[in-house]
Amino acid sequence: MKNILVTGGAGFIGSNFVIYMLDKYPDYNIIVYDKLTYAGNLDNLLEVSDEPRYRFVKGDICDATAVADAIKKYAVDTIVNFAAETHVDRSIMDPDAFVKTSVYGAYVLLEAARELGLERVHQISTDEVYGHIPAGYSSVETDPLVPRSPYAASKASADLMVNAYFVTYGLPVTMTRGSNNIGPYQYPEKVVPLFATNALDGEPLPVYGDGRQMREYQYVIDHCEAIDLVLHRGKLGEAYNIGTGEEMENLTMVEILLQALDKSPDLIRHVADRPGHDRRYSLDISKIRALGWQPRHTAEEAIIKTAHWYKDNEWWWRKIKSGEFKAYYQAQYGKRLAESG
Ligand code: NAD
Ligand code: DAU
Repeated sequence: MKNILVTGGAGFIGSNFVIYMLDKYPDYNIIVYDKLTYAGNLDNLLEVSDEPRYRFVKGDICDATAVADAIKKYAVDTIVNFAAETHVDRSIMDPDAFVKTSVYGAYVLLEAARELGLERVHQISTDEVYGHIPAGYSSVETDPLVPRSPYAASKASADLMVNAYFVTYGLPVTMTRGSNNIGPYQYPEKVVPLFATNALDGEPLPVYGDGRQMREYQYVIDHCEAIDLVLHRGKLGEAYNIGTGEEMENLTMVEILLQALDKSPDLIRHVADRPGHDRRYSLDISKIRALGWQPRHTAEEAIIKTAHWYKDNEWWWRKIKSGEFKAYYQAQYGKRLAESG
């Protein structure tokens, strides 16, 4: 492993992974291949922009010719695929791009890797592929995939295709299924950066339904360390859950966030719930722990650290929130907030 194509590397987790890998492995070259959708942002990669071992290629993973060209040009031996449409609420509004990128795009990458004989394809997946998990149970990697949103279904489809390329063609693949990441450079449509930036501006925090849904909020660099471990020590053909084992209700997350920013709970507004909202995810993380990984941050530490990053980095999020985001926010929250009184 020497020349890694990080697809979706200009997004939230991808950019954190690129920065982490360039720092940790002085002999690796990282080529970011990204379409720069609304969620892709070269500001995320500013801190490595002068690094000669980093290259950026603007491209769509659905474009087989452009993918093959990038692989050949940079002698790529490994693909780590972060590229996806990633917001559940947007997948409910318009699923089209989700299917194109996560299903067809993942297939294009797998096919390129097969034809060009790459050493590895690592697929970044999600705990949402297991669907809603009843109390008292935690998902293991061999559980059936029961996705319930268009986003989750698109991700589960990619997982199935990755597995099919391993079984059918012997393509060297691995997968990781992560829980909710938080940290620097997360587009402020996701709950923690949305609520942190709204709170900083004294705007309401639209909590869906009763706010008692359970998530495992993990710090993004902990997730990146686990991906790195699976890339180097994971068993081919296998999936690994990456979470904290620490579940938290959304309302608890909001309380911690507001306290970290010294803002009032009066900002909380309960609004109409997300259709088909999965109430609980819970990952059994014994398999990744057995490889020698454990999270470095508790959920509470991750939330506080993230809240402080948004407080200290207005340069990054203010321009996002003043652009395309405004129309999205109005479509997603205008009626809900008006109806919440
Ligand atoms: P993100 O939305 O911040 O970034 C996605 C990136 O993919 C963007 O840079 C975008 O421009 C790029 N992209 C989208 N379509 C593309 C295409 N067709 N071709 C090339 N690039 C394209 O997403 P994220 O939150 O960083 O998530 C990254 C990956 O991790 C996704 O696969 C997601 O499903 C998975 N994941 C996310 C979380 C989370 O909590 N955010 C948790 C588990 C798994
Ligand atoms: O679990 C991993 C997944 O986490 C990733 O695969 C997805 O890419 C990522 O977007 C995230 O999905 P969620 O739907 O869990 O994240 P989101 O930040 O959208 O919502 C987290 C919780 O907060 C969820 O229960 C819905 C709730 N929520 C969200 C928003 C945006 C609100 O109550 N209000 C909101 O405005």
